[in-house]
Amino acid sequence: MRALVAGNWKMNGTPASLGELEALKQALAAPACDVLVCPPATLIAQAAWHVKGAFALGGQDCHAEPKGAFTGDLSAEMLRDAGASFVILGHSERRQYHGESNAHVAAKARAAWRAGLKAIICIGESEAQRNAGEAPHICQGQLNESVPPEATSANSVIAYEPVWAIGTGRTPTSDDIAAMHSHIRACLVSRLGAAGEGMLILYGGSVNPGNAAEILGLPEVGGALVGGASLKAADFLKIIAAVKA
Ligand code: 13P
Repeated sequence: MRALVAGNWKMNGTPASLGELEALKQALAAPACDVLVCPPATLIAQAAWHVKGAFALGGQDCHAEPKGAFTGDLSAEMLRDAGASFVILGHSERRQYHGESNAHVAAKARAAWRAGLKAIICIGESEAQRNAGEAPHICQGQLNESVPPEATSANSVIAYEPVWAIGTGRTPTSDDIAAMHSHIRACLVSRLGAAGEGMLILYGGSVNPGNAAEILGLPEVGGALVGGASLKAADFLKIIAAVKA
């Protein structure tokens, strides 16, 4: 499986930010990994026009239904129409601020597949859960309930993002990341069989140009989901360049 480096812009970016995507496109010469940027949904269509397929675009959430009376929501089909090929689902910020349960995330994953989008399903423990030694158990529960049994490496990617590492500049040790990724792999294989063997497992949480090479070199780390350091093309390019060919 080719690695994936994905940028999650969260609620950042205006049309002026499209210059960063232009800069990324200009500088991306035969990257050793697949590249994805998930800007705010308001920018996807314009971004698609600028990027012209040089790298992939994605949404940051979708509704489970294809259409209907759901004020403020966007369907997976709408994201696809705008030019997305991926959608991030179950990010801890959605779970925390929008009350998204594992069952919601699983329904959204099915919606993503229905629309032809690849789902990036996020899991990760809180700091209290890690300190209590519960991180492997919490992540296994999230995987079991958020990842529908029809998931394959072709329709889904897992992102392990410890909540306490997001936006804090703190990361787990390399040993801890490797241990959790190997645990996630074992959970995927035991639940999905062969489909779980090739599924990419991204690490997310304070990935930056300084730590990317070490993190991306760890076993079972199939790429990164990058927040703050994806907003500037120069930083994001350094992270992409850290993927070993
Ligand atoms: P940071 O890279 O800003 O810590 O954010 C990680 C994240 O939440 C990506 O989805």
